[in-house]
Amino acid sequence: MTAFATHRSDGVMLDQVAAIYGTPCYVYSQAALVERYQAFERALAGADARICFAVKANGNLGVLGVLADLGSGFDIVSVGELERVITAGGKPHKVVFSGVGKRRDELERALEVGVGCFNVESESELERLDRLAIDRGVRAPVSIRVNPDVDARTHPYIATGLRENKFGVDIERAEALYRRAATLNGIMITGVDCHIGSQLTELSPFADATERVIALIDRLAIEGIAIQHLDIGGGLGVCYEDEAPPSIADYVEVVRSAVADRDLKLVFEPGRVIAANAGVLLTHVDTLKPAATTDARSFAVVDAAINDLIRPALYDAWHAIDRVGQAGSNAVRASWDVVGPICETGDCLGTDRDLTLAEGDLLAVHSAGAYGAAMASNYNSRPRAPEIMLADGAMFEVRARESIADLMRGEKRLPPPDLGRFDRGC
Ligand code: LLP
Repeated sequence: MTAFATHRSDGVMLDQVAAIYGTPCYVYSQAALVERYQAFERALAGADARICFAVKANGNLGVLGVLADLGSGFDIVSVGELERVITAGGKPHKVVFSGVGKRRDELERALEVGVGCFNVESESELERLDRLAIDRGVRAPVSIRVNPDVDARTHPYIATGLRENKFGVDIERAEALYRRAATLNGIMITGVDCHIGSQLTELSPFADATERVIALIDRLAIEGIAIQHLDIGGGLGVCYEDEAPPSIADYVEVVRSAVADRDLKLVFEPGRVIAANAGVLLTHVDTLKPAATTDARSFAVVDAAINDLIRPALYDAWHAIDRVGQAGSNAVRASWDVVGPICETGDCLGTDRDLTLAEGDLLAVHSAGAYGAAMASNYNSRPRAPEIMLADGAMFEVRARESIADLMRGEKRLPPPDLGRFDRGC
């Protein structure tokens, strides 16, 4: 069904994973991650380029480690992500640091380890970074994230390239900021950066953005400001249901051909397209409430919920859901709403799914390798699910299931009250 299914070559069946680690449980395929990363490498053959995996899509150390071993760089947005990259074996000089609000301590740590580039999003950030770099006696490598004002035609929550979005510097104002940056002793201008949104399924917004950024680079060159790299951000979409996003090869080609014979290094920040279809969320059917018993809809209550995978609730996102293994003789075919046990009507992983189900069945929620575990929470005091990586026919627990003690770690009651202060009732 999805890319993940083609990697049953991992040799381990999903039902074995569920039997050993329980559900809900995330399962990743190393082979699928490698294949996606290498598709970028192939498309970029012969070009001066860096692939910086967007850690926000999946920051698990196992996932980052697989990519670090392949030589990947990383796009980070916090010091937490930076420490994950370093712990996983990523190289700081291959890191680009994005984000609209970087704290002083985060900038300091990034200067200390020597990240490859700061994607600066405002004048105030530029001045702060300059002062911190001068204090350390270094020059901070900088790209300015420009907002090219193109419509990514994606979900409004994940569109970032329009003038009204909070991200980046208006492309019209960017020139003045580059002129300012060129005067600062703590700043070394290296690139121009943009990121217009996520889950893009057409090439034209990327082509428009690249064209506008290159026009800026050409204008800067006339002013004597030399740009060495163009960072086009992330955003290439994947197939969740019936979308037909461009291939990695076609996407890369749009950028490469726009750059033409300019001497520019290319930086890409893909997240979803590398990880989404390299992961599934496994869940067991706990309780069936067929329409006959509810007089309304047929509900399959499963043990995964929106705390594990929030995308359907937050973005109205569609994830394929299928049963793992054969249907039992007592299974009921219906159009099921697959819902979790959380006390919210929006706790739904998928509506109207034509499935033949019995209580106890194992389901796989597909395309869950990006923005799945990374966005999980403990809502309803639910321990976060374990993450398992399938690699070369073996399973590796790359994150253990949280325990009840983990849930309360760091919390405390107040000291015992002064008994006289409260009427304690009976
Ligand atoms: N670079 C920057 C600066 C970004 O903000 C993002 C994603 C990426 C790269 C990676 O984009 P990707 O290749 O994954 O599309 N939680 C949402 C997606 C939010 C994306 C935010 N920025 C979701 O589940 O759909």
